[in-house]
Amino acid sequence: MLRLAEQHEWLQPVSLAAHIGSQITKLPPFAESAKFLVDLTEELAEMNIPISYLDVGGGLGIEYDVQNTTPGIAEWVTAVSDPISQAGYDLVLEPGRAIIGPTGLLLTRVIYTKRQGDKLFVITDAGMNDLIRPTLYQAHHPILPVRQPVTSDQQSVDIVGPICETGDYLAKERPFPPVQPGDLIAVMQAGAYGFAMASNYNGRLRPAEVLVYKDQYRIIRQRQKPEHLVDGCIDVPVWEK
Ligand SMILES: Cc1ncc(COP(=O)(O)O)c(C=O)c1O
Repeated sequence: MLRLAEQHEWLQPVSLAAHIGSQITKLPPFAESAKFLVDLTEELAEMNIPISYLDVGGGLGIEYDVQNTTPGIAEWVTAVSDPISQAGYDLVLEPGRAIIGPTGLLLTRVIYTKRQGDKLFVITDAGMNDLIRPTLYQAHHPILPVRQPVTSDQQSVDIVGPICETGDYLAKERPFPPVQPGDLIAVMQAGAYGFAMASNYNGRLRPAEVLVYKDQYRIIRQRQKPEHLVDGCIDVPVWEK
């Protein structure tokens, strides 16, 4: 394919790109992939197909659990860039999740709580349409009460959304302090694959997005209104009043 591209009058191969997967929490597979790109590029050079830069993709995982064993971005950059810069190629990186995942949280309010048999449910105003990862592929997001709980007692709860669906949950059997209707809780590490996968499922309106910088904040996307669904407009620019 690259040979065909090289010979084509309108095409010029300039790069090789790899993306080996997502939420990988160890460095050796990345270093191996970078080395593979370098070896392949050198083979191509011998075939007179010069490649100038290599794209190692993304895929570095973030810590959704408490113990912090995932390498940091700096270590990841070193692991992928060393083989490539030593061989003299330019490098492109796409570490989406590792940068943006831990910076975002989904803020939601407790609507009510209910006990059913042994189970205690905390029902929130955010549901699976706002953050689909837990129900789609059993992703674990840490969830915290926004205010310091009055007691250190915890009980096992299912934190669920208000949509009438078995799959509408944010967490199952999670130890959690007692909460009351009206309390705010934060679903952490929701910056990546969170809002981007949000939907208008069941006619639910997407939430606002708020950018917080130190003690300042700015609404960068307005909360949707029903008329936005009728207009077929899913993106609400912030300047639209
Ligand atoms: C080609 C490519 N680059 C980068 C990424 C970002 O990966 P991540 O968000 O896991 O860092 C993806 C995600 O699927 C991808 O397909």
